Amino acid sequence: MNTILVTGATGNVGRPLVNQLAEAGVQVRAVTRAPDSAPFPADVEVVGSAAEGIHDASAVFLNSRALGDELATVVDLARRAGVRRLVALSAINADDDFSRQPSRFRGDRNAEVEQHAVDSGLEWVSLRPTVFATNFFGMWAAQIRAGDVINGPYAQASTAPIVDADISAVAVHALLRDDLVGRKIPLTGPQALTNAELVDVIGDVLGRRLRYREAPPDLVRRRFIDIGFSAEFADAYMALLEATVSTPALVTNEVEKILGRPPQSFGDAIRSHRDLFGN
Ligand SMILES: NC(=O)c1ccc[n+]([C@@H]2O[C@H](COP(=O)([O-])OP(=O)(O)OC[C@H]3O[C@@H](n4cnc5c(N)ncnc54)[C@H](OP(=O)(O)O)[C@@H]3O)[C@@H](O)[C@H]2O)c1
Repeated sequence: MNTILVTGATGNVGRPLVNQLAEAGVQVRAVTRAPDSAPFPADVEVVGSAAEGIHDASAVFLNSRALGDELATVVDLARRAGVRRLVALSAINADDDFSRQPSRFRGDRNAEVEQHAVDSGLEWVSLRPTVFATNFFGMWAAQIRAGDVINGPYAQASTAPIVDADISAVAVHALLRDDLVGRKIPLTGPQALTNAELVDVIGDVLGRRLRYREAPPDLVRRRFIDIGFSAEFADAYMALLEATVSTPALVTNEVEKILGRPPQSFGDAIRSHRDLFGN
């Protein structure tokens, strides 16, 4: 039986990926820094590092945030261990100027993880998702629990959020089937929505009248720095959003083409996480 090694296994994409692979009857090895505190389905093997879990794996899911400085070493180990396929979690903006890739300033290496996979000599697939739906939970849930106004920059900034578990479902396909090999795949949700429209969707699902109140960019930038983000991160984040004010976010139909069903909507994501918003 083939074993699939999943890095970032307790994360937004990794957790549903492990569950979906286990449900499909695949032998999964999940990497976490806290193997004793992360319950997985019974048959999932848990390891403390990718190096520990790479022996006799047939495929590896690479999350650059989880791998950090070990990224290149793990790809090298994979090659030497006889791994057949690498599936990289990259990002839709991986080719953009780094000054518009805020997560780079927090250590993510979405360009590099893809390039390592491409250069590995192994079969590879690069998943390039856009903004995850869960990002908005982190940014807005506390404000929504506290009141009806969501403060943030650029009410007209546009995104096409993808539900994290849909990225995982595409990863399952990339790991188990052969038709995506050699592709860099831009993955989005079904619809481009502005920040103001996203808040309307949340209000509709929760049955509340919510409002997005645009805050001046300088103030938002300053607030990021005050709560501990670097100036580089704050600048890149603001530049990323500003660039989408006049250009609606790209929507691709890759999720539907690959999975044979439409991607989940932002409203679906809110419905399945109502509790986070105090409903
Ligand atoms: N969020 C978005 O909108 C978005 C969009 C496109 C691309 N991406 C990319 O997707 C990747 C993140 O995926 P994700 O959200 O699934 O990951 P995640 O949930 O943030 O992290 C996955 C796991 O990695 C481990 N981890 C987290 N931070 C770590 C660190 N600093 N050092 C070592 N291990 C760490 C944690 O596992 P343990 O604690 O169990 O070890 C965590 O559960 C990044 O490369 C990001 O740039 C994100």
